Amino acid sequence: MTQSPGQGNALDNLLTESRTFPPSDEFAAQANAQPALYEEAKADREAFWAKQAERLHWETKWDQVLDWSDAPFAKWFVGGKLNVAYNCVDRHVESGHGEQVAIHWEGEPGDSRAITYAELQREVSKAANALTSLGIGAEDRVAIYMPMIPEAIFSMLACARVGALHNVVFGGFSAEALRTRIQDSEARVVITTDGQYRRGNPAPLKPAVDEAVAGAPSVEKVIVVKRTDTEVAWTDKDVWWHELVDSQSDQHTPEAFDSEHPLFILYTSGTTGKPKGILHTSGGYLTQASYTHFNVFDLKPDTDVYWCTADIGWVTGHSYIVYGPLSNRVTQVVYEGTPNTPNEGRHWDIVQKYGVSIYYTAPTLIRTFMKWGADIPAKYDLSTLRVLGSVGEPINPEAWIWYRENIGGGKAPIVDTWWQTETGAIMISPLPGVVSTKPGSAQRPLPGIGAKVVNDEGVEVPHGGGGYLVLDEPWPSMLRGIWGDEERYRDTYWSRFGEQGFYFAGDGAKYDNDGDIWLLGRVDDVMNVSGHRISTTEVESALVSHPTVAEAAVVGASDETTGQGIVAFVILRGGAGADAGGADAIKALRDHVAKEIGPIAKPRQIMVVPELPKTRSGKIMRRLLRDVAENRTVGDVTTLADSSVMDLISAGLQSGK
Ligand code: WTA
Repeated sequence: MTQSPGQGNALDNLLTESRTFPPSDEFAAQANAQPALYEEAKADREAFWAKQAERLHWETKWDQVLDWSDAPFAKWFVGGKLNVAYNCVDRHVESGHGEQVAIHWEGEPGDSRAITYAELQREVSKAANALTSLGIGAEDRVAIYMPMIPEAIFSMLACARVGALHNVVFGGFSAEALRTRIQDSEARVVITTDGQYRRGNPAPLKPAVDEAVAGAPSVEKVIVVKRTDTEVAWTDKDVWWHELVDSQSDQHTPEAFDSEHPLFILYTSGTTGKPKGILHTSGGYLTQASYTHFNVFDLKPDTDVYWCTADIGWVTGHSYIVYGPLSNRVTQVVYEGTPNTPNEGRHWDIVQKYGVSIYYTAPTLIRTFMKWGADIPAKYDLSTLRVLGSVGEPINPEAWIWYRENIGGGKAPIVDTWWQTETGAIMISPLPGVVSTKPGSAQRPLPGIGAKVVNDEGVEVPHGGGGYLVLDEPWPSMLRGIWGDEERYRDTYWSRFGEQGFYFAGDGAKYDNDGDIWLLGRVDDVMNVSGHRISTTEVESALVSHPTVAEAAVVGASDETTGQGIVAFVILRGGAGADAGGADAIKALRDHVAKEIGPIAKPRQIMVVPELPKTRSGKIMRRLLRDVAENRTVGDVTTLADSSVMDLISAGLQSGK
């Protein structure tokens, strides 16, 4: 179902946002990206990308920059060969930076570890040898289900090193979600931990793996890192990391793989219940991750301390903790835990402790910090911060200004970066030394990237107009498909504007009068809760899998902190019993969704209703339910099969049923 773009968003008033913040002369003068970058890309796009690819070490150089003859399946840097892990680790040691800290790791309980590039090389080599000893090689799949500990990064790089694909599954997902992702990718090995620290307490993680692996016959071995020292059940597939990996040689010669060799699969929610395994490959992906990280964050490898607060379970962790930053020889902070453990100043304490200069986070967290109060960051020395980033959802101007004033000292440029799991790397963002930033707008495509706002017919809208965001040129880090489902790849992204050959992003967008792009949220049935993509169908299937539920409809309703909150409308089964709609039963339903998908998918609210609004063809009209969920007057009901349904729903809700 497609709504009209921007619907349900109170963002229209944003187009009158007139404040702009030019970079200081000092910042502009020292910036990695200068205005000429736009000109250069415009003059010859392929030559521009070829130049960016030179940022990497290629064992064999490519002979063609882009092969788009089999569109929408792209090949970038055709014929080139490289090893992604070598580019992120070894070459920095070889260029004399082995003693530079790659990762300042900060555990939630307060333990910490500084890992130099030389040490990273040894750790990744050992892990690569361990994978090889298990018979894992090129094109095998390895699932990684771990908290934010160094071994998670070693594991990803070890996979890349031996040419295996990692499939990282967010540690907050349920056993069931893990199982479907392991099965779909047919992973042979799973890497996990005994437990993880969450809000000050150790929580078990391995039981979920045991449950998932019991239903996933492809798995031969489970490697377990001891993190919390929690007692765990043991099966004959299990092996301790410290027993398997620590005894390996720390020497490993990386093999160069084809530029189009698959690097990873990462599952993301689509408009159906089944998550999509987004496939990324090596040369183009690393080129764009590296180029964007260097220019958008203005990274200075010798002096900056960078911190991206994402989890490696999401694409932001892949591209802006692992591949982009490490390929650029970053020194970065990796933090394991929650932002309010042991108190609400934890992030600022970390910024102060390590002298963080670049900080990249999500609007939902910024709004949480706002709620906690400006006096908290004010207690810390944040003067080292010089670039701030935002990603995952539209950032409202109020949060943007708060971020600039209270975290950025009123001067650090904010880069609002738009991109997706599918795009692999940042696509739309201001360049901090070039563009005058505007609160709430991601502004313009990066040099080398083509993006447009078009109407239903695929025609670009004029300045001031709204429509759909499309990408009109192939880009190096674009997805190469959906794992095992070519047709879904074509259907989802390339059929909506097939005639024009545009990639349909699924986001509504507008141009303001200056031609800057404003993202307005999803136009499909994908919700964005705290920057996490969750499909309405996924939550609906989880709800109807509960014995008391006959039917369910789920909508994303706007939420002050999380962007959207999940609101579910359920019809109970005839024999569900009198108290099935009571508080305990509702709680049980919410817990059931958490068990099926993960706590992030727990509905904020569940309403029991006698009927759902449907069109004559049986489609649920979520637009009307969203009106109810957001306490608005219900809109046009004339296309409903039975127009009295909305009255029934409203009456039932008012009587508290
Ligand atoms: C949304 C996260 C507005 C958008 C990197 C997109 C944004 C989806 C922004 C992708 C932004 C991401 N402004 N919306 N700066 N960044 N989005 O795959 O709806 O988890 O389609 O990738 O997040 O989410 P994903």
